[in-house]
Amino acid sequence: MAGLPLFEKTDLGQLRDGMAKDEMVAIYDSFSEQYDEECANRDYAGPRMCAEALAKWLGDRKTSSILDVAAGTGLCAVELRKLGFTSIDALDPSQRSLDYARSKNRYDKYICDFIGTNRLDIDDDSYDAVTVCGGFIMAAMEPDCLPEIIRLVRPGGYVCITTRDMYLTTVKAFSGGRLEAAMTELQSKGFWEQVSRELVPGYHPGIDAVIFVYRVLR
Ligand SMILES: C[S@@+](CC[C@H](N)C(=O)[O-])C[C@H]1O[C@@H](n2cnc3c(N)ncnc32)[C@H](O)[C@@H]1O
Repeated sequence: MAGLPLFEKTDLGQLRDGMAKDEMVAIYDSFSEQYDEECANRDYAGPRMCAEALAKWLGDRKTSSILDVAAGTGLCAVELRKLGFTSIDALDPSQRSLDYARSKNRYDKYICDFIGTNRLDIDDDSYDAVTVCGGFIMAAMEPDCLPEIIRLVRPGGYVCITTRDMYLTTVKAFSGGRLEAAMTELQSKGFWEQVSRELVPGYHPGIDAVIFVYRVLR
């Protein structure tokens, strides 16, 4: 499919399914200083939706620790902090996006890495929750990273995944319902249970979000 239509006037419009990881990271790096402004200009509500969906389930906002995966410049952290969450780390392979987030003091810790089938240098059960906003898109996270996400969350903690609903069918890595099939398989194996799946209008104007919340069981 074509690149992000929303960002077609910027480098983000160069994102393509199947592109090399270093090429993808270079695009986010090059765009890190303009990203927040572009999102604001395009009424990007994904981070707010993701934070609000997690807040419905994750009780103690002052003591809960959250890892924001595919953190980018940290828009999700901004929304989580508005809701009273205080302990938030970032993971993203784009160093310049993380540098931008650091310049705004958005996270406690900044981890520059990819999530995938690789084991991250993070202990099991380190977090009360993981958020992923806009990470399951073309040229980015794939369904095979879900077990690693679950490993990082303590039993009883939550994973909140937000993306454009259309990406469930249009992104090559998710074709044939692969993302939801992988989620369901992990549920059937007892790793987690779905507590919420919502379709919400207004991810961007005229574009629906799909928001998944899972409770980790393992
Ligand atoms: C559209 S941005 C979303 C950023 C932010 N969460 C937001 O909503 O504004 C996608 C982000 O996913 C990151 N990303 C791509 N592949 C990734 C991977 N395998 N693991 C972690 N992050 C990844 C990119 O570097 C980029 O910052």
